[in-house]
Amino acid sequence: VAPLRVGIAGLGTVGAEVVGLIEQQKRALSLRCGRTVRVVAVSARSKVKKRNVDLTGIAWAKNALAIATDPKVDVFVELMGGVGDPALSAIEAALRGGKSVVTANKALIAKHGSKLAALAEKHGGALNYEAAVGAAIPVIKTLREGLAGTGIDRVYGILNGTCNYILTRMEREGLSFAECLKDAQRLGYAEANPSFDVDGHDTAQKLAILASLAFGTKVNQSAVYVEGISSIAPEDLRAAEELGYRVKLLGVAVRTETGIEQRVHPTMVPRTSSIAQVMDVTNAVTIDGDGIPPITLVGPGAGGAATASAVVADIADIARGVRALPFGRPVARLKPTAKAPMKRHEGG
Ligand code: HSE
Repeated sequence: VAPLRVGIAGLGTVGAEVVGLIEQQKRALSLRCGRTVRVVAVSARSKVKKRNVDLTGIAWAKNALAIATDPKVDVFVELMGGVGDPALSAIEAALRGGKSVVTANKALIAKHGSKLAALAEKHGGALNYEAAVGAAIPVIKTLREGLAGTGIDRVYGILNGTCNYILTRMEREGLSFAECLKDAQRLGYAEANPSFDVDGHDTAQKLAILASLAFGTKVNQSAVYVEGISSIAPEDLRAAEELGYRVKLLGVAVRTETGIEQRVHPTMVPRTSSIAQVMDVTNAVTIDGDGIPPITLVGPGAGGAATASAVVADIADIARGVRALPFGRPVARLKPTAKAPMKRHEGG
């Protein structure tokens, strides 16, 4: 069987980790997939930047679009980020040409996911974005394949590693919000613009993607009520503790009589609940299915290695010829954004 030829646009922390991981897992991947996986082309803003990875034998493409339209590339891996161009038009070009696409770009999937999924369906490629939510946690796969036969009532969880890291350190060490944020940036968890993390938008994007998979709704980030953690002080966390709670930034999507409600806000969770035990950069997603007890997935939600793990898993699926349904069960409609949610407790 011919090798799967991979082209990667974007060689930041995640891109470099992906190149390294494919090399490191070469043998295991070829055994699992029945063919070798080979990175044949890359593009990045700088060719000379020091990266901790060996790029010998890999061609430098002029830009993302050149990789997306290269007939010698089977899979276009988009790791540039950004909600619009050049990432969007390169992904569209790859899908139109019948290529499969792997991306970690939650902002782009939260905005254009439904349209891109339709394009992938039309031209026969796959659109995989496991790394967009919960990094290494296989939550997309769980929702779109593992639970394909189960009706879902609610999906909720801790979807932003930066916020959970900040809340953990504020609570444990009494540090200020600003100090903790600086450390989260230094450790490579935060977005380029960290207000996306702390103001809840990153969680909202991930929630919109999960809701779409769980309920078959169109991905729609603007229908999410969003409130972040930047006004929380260590004293608030101590007050919650005295009442038997811990504060977590949760994303919640729940089926109601009038549609799917989506909200992101600091939430009081009982200290004894399993979600309250999720600390530091760890993410957790709980899925309440129809007729089965809740399923909770817990794992590393940010960082280069955790994100690369999911990207390589997506590539492996394509190498094996697995093509999941891009988006699932069309069973519900979204509720417009609420002014402010009444419910502030979850996970009891
Ligand atoms: N900034 C994100 C987070 C990275 O902190 O969770 C992973 O999406």
